[in-house]
Amino acid sequence: MNEKLKLLHSGLTITQRCSLKCKLCAGYSPYYNPQPHYSLELLSDIIDRYFSIVDHVEKFTVTGGEPLIHEDLARIIEKIIEYRNQFDKIEIITNGTIFPNNELQSTLEKYGKKDGCLIVMVDHYGELSTEVSRIKNYFEDKKIDHRIRIYHGDNPHCGGWVNFNDFSLKSHNEKDIIKKFRKCGLPKINFCFAIKNGEMHPCTFSHRIMELNIITRNKSEYIDLFDDNTVEQQKNKLRNILNLKYFGACAYCNGMCEDSQRYKPAEQL
Ligand SMILES: C[S@@+](CC[C@H](N)C(=O)[O-])C[C@H]1O[C@@H](n2cnc3c(N)ncnc32)[C@H](O)[C@@H]1O
Ligand code: SF4
Repeated sequence: MNEKLKLLHSGLTITQRCSLKCKLCAGYSPYYNPQPHYSLELLSDIIDRYFSIVDHVEKFTVTGGEPLIHEDLARIIEKIIEYRNQFDKIEIITNGTIFPNNELQSTLEKYGKKDGCLIVMVDHYGELSTEVSRIKNYFEDKKIDHRIRIYHGDNPHCGGWVNFNDFSLKSHNEKDIIKKFRKCGLPKINFCFAIKNGEMHPCTFSHRIMELNIITRNKSEYIDLFDDNTVEQQKNKLRNILNLKYFGACAYCNGMCEDSQRYKPAEQL
């Protein structure tokens, strides 16, 4: 029998709608027109399919767009919790512009205590993140596990943002591409798989560059969660992806490298 398929990190995009319009958004939210907003029904099918393929993931992130815009966020969390024995932690990433509604508050209070299975990352983009202090007070009061990441000022989290919006060809030979791939932070953590619109890509850049048809769709570099493959075939495909030496997208990417140029986060369009 095959070994269990374990991942460190995957991120589920539940909506591309957002309350902000960040020029360098790594989720590409402002660049969708219209902005996809996925139904609870579709997301439930995606979650079922994901957890039939992936036996265990350490961190399962709920992201967007701005996830707190989604009217069914509490129910999406409940759906993921059906697979409680297949993940260590759910993480919600928010931009600090929206205060949790009553339904979400109940869910956070149920699962988000320090010994619980849920944590909220609040990205603080300075004056754009208008609800951060209210959210912080509420989380402290209810002892909800959270982290406020400072993305403004002189010393932003991770030194600032990377430019994943430049799709020009940057590496012209295989040797350079492999070098960049080895320097990139994502392969080092076995990737943060981007689950978007029923597909699962090793990173959001790979998803986007194929979506824009800048490179040809290469079925050996992503999983279509709803194609005709059996679960065992999907698992094998995913194992193969984890062993690739680089992806088609890498030639076009700036890489998530320690020395990749950093930019001021959340500059608005
Ligand atoms: C696409 S955002 C979606 C969640 C939420 N709207 C937010 O901004 O926090 C997910 C994460 O990606 C980060 N991010 C967005 N664009 C980035 C970039 N160009 N470089 C590095 N991180 C980026 C954000 O700071 C956030 O932590
Ligand atoms: S807040 Fe900015 S980074 Fe986050 S999804 Fe919206 S546009 Fe993208």
